[in-house]
Amino acid sequence: MKNTRSVFFTIFAMLLTIIGSAQVRINLHADKGRDTISRFIYGHFAEHLGHCIYGGLYIGESNTHIPNKDGVRLDVIEALKKMKVPVLRWPGGCFADTYHWRDGVGPKDKRPSMLNVWWGNVKEDNSFGTNEFLNMCELLGAEPYLSGNVGSGTPQELADWVKYTTHPNGSSPMTDLREASGRKTPWNVRFWGLGNEAWGCGGNMKVEYYANIYRQYATFMTNWNNSDRLYRIASGASDDDYHWTEVLMKELPHGMFDALGLHHYSVINWSKKGSATQFSEEQYFITMQRALQMEELVRKHSAIMDKYDPEKKKALAVDEWGGWYDVEPGTNGAFLFQQNTMRDAMLAGATLNIFNNHCDRVKMANLAQIVNVLQAVILTREEKLVLTPTYHVMEMYNVHHDALMLPVEFSSPKYIVGKDSLDALSVSASRDANGNTHISIVNIDSKKSHPLSIALNGGRYKSVTGRILKSGRLQDHNSFDAPDKIKPAPFNDAKINGTNLTLNIPPFSVIVLQLK
Ligand code: AHR
Repeated sequence: MKNTRSVFFTIFAMLLTIIGSAQVRINLHADKGRDTISRFIYGHFAEHLGHCIYGGLYIGESNTHIPNKDGVRLDVIEALKKMKVPVLRWPGGCFADTYHWRDGVGPKDKRPSMLNVWWGNVKEDNSFGTNEFLNMCELLGAEPYLSGNVGSGTPQELADWVKYTTHPNGSSPMTDLREASGRKTPWNVRFWGLGNEAWGCGGNMKVEYYANIYRQYATFMTNWNNSDRLYRIASGASDDDYHWTEVLMKELPHGMFDALGLHHYSVINWSKKGSATQFSEEQYFITMQRALQMEELVRKHSAIMDKYDPEKKKALAVDEWGGWYDVEPGTNGAFLFQQNTMRDAMLAGATLNIFNNHCDRVKMANLAQIVNVLQAVILTREEKLVLTPTYHVMEMYNVHHDALMLPVEFSSPKYIVGKDSLDALSVSASRDANGNTHISIVNIDSKKSHPLSIALNGGRYKSVTGRILKSGRLQDHNSFDAPDKIKPAPFNDAKINGTNLTLNIPPFSVIVLQLK
């Protein structure tokens, strides 16, 4: 009997592969929205690393070849504005804990140079400093997130940076310095990081020690009035270091912080990361396995936070995430310049769905990094610019910014490679201020498409439109010679019938639907 049953199931599974997959039932609860998806989940990160700042965002005022405003590339700004960048973290990363902000203000010919010891020992001339960054954020319409130097700085230095950037004119020697540097009024700087990776490049500290000095640094960072409160983010755990989160939640006075960070990169193997473009199905599978681990990390770190903060007043800020591969052949190994393929589109889409679905706790995330470094949304070479598949996912998903998250429930079919399997589908949904509902769906399976039937519980919709990002090969990417190989296309194959929505999602594709 047992044998007959297993033969039956094997034949059934084979039939499914031949005739296609069974329909996946998804329940969308349009009437059960409770939490808002903070737009800051769609944040980015710019470090003084390789060509992220110099050559990527900033080419210098004397450049007459590439259109710029005060040295900031206007083609890059225009593309980023279209994608929408709600928050930008700067100046690092590891660089932040070596950075002394006073070196980067005042007349450029008087600014001292330093060696960028983390990223190739290249000369950092400090020509892009605080004013340049904060003015660029204003141009971009993004809120700045300043990452303070706790590893090699002083509480005084960080307190002075707060005064320089946010205090009213004429209130301290720091604000006089700001005025002398050409900026009279304060900028709007709400987000402050107190150190970066304090467990590693930020000082190799034990969490108990970091908790103590966090308290010291936070004490001297003063709001200038109660309505302009600083939002302080503690340097958080690496991956599954749950002890780090536990100690910070226990030891930091809750009036002294607003969020804990978390860093997680999708890396196949730190000593053998593999090419960004020439990868096997197995390597793709492992990258996706690492990416989907974000679900478990967010759940478990949140569960610890719940013990100390059941009302979820404190946020989890995943302030570094993304795929990390070998650098492109022929480029500086310390500059972390990598191409970006459909694999990265899968990684981005699935990760953003995880953040959306956990928006009760995850209130900020910053993709590493914005231009020319790691999982960049833009690559530049001289005057040329390429929008990567990750850019397109970020742009397609911007409909979720500040929208009401609508819960979805389903059991995903599996993406199977050898003996291992992963959930093939990831879904999130939200309703925006205009009453439009958006559903973002990712199918990471490299071969199988999936027919979907979405029950629109409690929702009344008349029409559906959509966009899809797909390509012929997982390894496909946009290049300086073929910048538009991958870009979103209209998706007209979703059908609404009463409260039921049906569509077919092709292999390794991302679809965003709009329901009205
Ligand atoms: O994003 C590159 C580096 O990765 C950052 O500088 C550091 O914080 C992390 O280890």
